Amino acid sequence: MNSYILEGGQCLRGEVPISGSKNAALPVLAATALLEGQYRIKNVPLIEDTLTLIDILKLLGAGVEILPAGTVVIDSSSINNCTAISEQVGKLRGSYYLLGALLGRFGEVNLRMPGGCNFGSRPIDLHLKGFRQLGAEVVEAEDIVSCRTTGLKSNSIFFDIVSVGATINMILAAVKAEGTTTIYNAAREPHVVDVANFLNAMGASVQGAGTDIIKVHGRDKLNLRGTYAIIPDQIEAGTYIAMAALTGGNIKLHNVIPSHLEALIAKLSEMGVSFAIGEERISVSMKPGQVLRSTNFVTAPYPGFPTDMQPQIMVLLTQADGVGKVTENVWNNRFQYVDDLRKMAARIVTQGRSALVTGGSKLAGTEVQAHDLRAGAAMVMAGLVAEGQTEIQQVELIERGYENFVNKLRDLGVQITRQVDTSPKEDFFKINYVS
Ligand code: EPZ
Repeated sequence: MNSYILEGGQCLRGEVPISGSKNAALPVLAATALLEGQYRIKNVPLIEDTLTLIDILKLLGAGVEILPAGTVVIDSSSINNCTAISEQVGKLRGSYYLLGALLGRFGEVNLRMPGGCNFGSRPIDLHLKGFRQLGAEVVEAEDIVSCRTTGLKSNSIFFDIVSVGATINMILAAVKAEGTTTIYNAAREPHVVDVANFLNAMGASVQGAGTDIIKVHGRDKLNLRGTYAIIPDQIEAGTYIAMAALTGGNIKLHNVIPSHLEALIAKLSEMGVSFAIGEERISVSMKPGQVLRSTNFVTAPYPGFPTDMQPQIMVLLTQADGVGKVTENVWNNRFQYVDDLRKMAARIVTQGRSALVTGGSKLAGTEVQAHDLRAGAAMVMAGLVAEGQTEIQQVELIERGYENFVNKLRDLGVQITRQVDTSPKEDFFKINYVS
């Protein structure tokens, strides 16, 4: 496993360009498999997850060309296969968007269960229930999900739980269902809106994305060519913002959509962080002598506070003045990384979905692991302010979702070494991923 090594006492200064959104790029790339033409997708972050999904599209028969600056040209007319059960499929969560895309296109799909970050059970029952309501027969055998239909029919679909993935998968399948499908209690994340905007740009009719009721009017034919640019990654942006706040730094972020960061900006302002908001940029700083004030966080579906910023703000609270409480309402086991923070002398008590964080902790550098994508970024944050040297192992998990992470940190003045593990390779994903 590769690792990062960094000394504490660092402070972020400078400018950082934000990449395209991982969680928008994955469903948009998968959605090209629903279409049957040539598409140019711009601002795709070239990270492990998107590159793996591109490989899967190629295995299905698509022609793919990756141009500089993250433009991906896909010819999906040559896709001639509705079965994707290779190991790559199990390496990421986003591969499950191929269920909706291939079912919509071919009326059939066989997919290996998806992988993704390991924080508790990550069922796909809502996706499969939705496909059944659209008229598909669904069979789950071992590690493979198979769906088939003689023709998808529109329906009203109500989700008991707000689910980003299930909402997007229903949109993908419903685009080709006869009639108008209505999705109730839909997820409202910016990446749900981005997929809907992409599909509409390609001739689909998806209304209400960004609200909790989405209507999809089935279409037989969609455009055979088109260009689309992925929105910026609000979680990548939030991560650098949290790092600047933590280290008392002063940074400017480019290519951001401030309205996607309202919850984060509101909560960090409560903590005493200063912001200057522009059209597509955000400046973050701490006033001289300003200390971080503790506050409470409750994660929730968008526009609530994003669960994907939970580990990062946990580290912020360890340095704030006072005791803060974090309640994780989206995932049932997303505090596993806290043990590594405790190894660094963080004072955090967890109970069920809540964590109490005592501020003013002097963190001590040591060897820690990146437990998952966002927890890994949080470990880097802790290393930036800890006493002494911190080594973070398994950084492949971080690099799955943060494009050009080390170079962007170095451009922000961070001294960080990336150590490549030259020992014989074990099958990293087999050990670290559960579906
Ligand atoms: C997406 O995961 C993101 N991943 C996650 O980001 C993010 O944490 C999550 O949405 C919530 O915002 C991608 O977009 C690739 P959900 P997803 O379906 O779609 C339960 C990151 O760091 N649920 O919204 O898998 C589920 O267990 C990653 O970028 C069911 O019970 O999340 C969870 O408690 C980590 N049955 C809740 O719903 C289902 O069929 C929300 O999950 C589906 C979900």
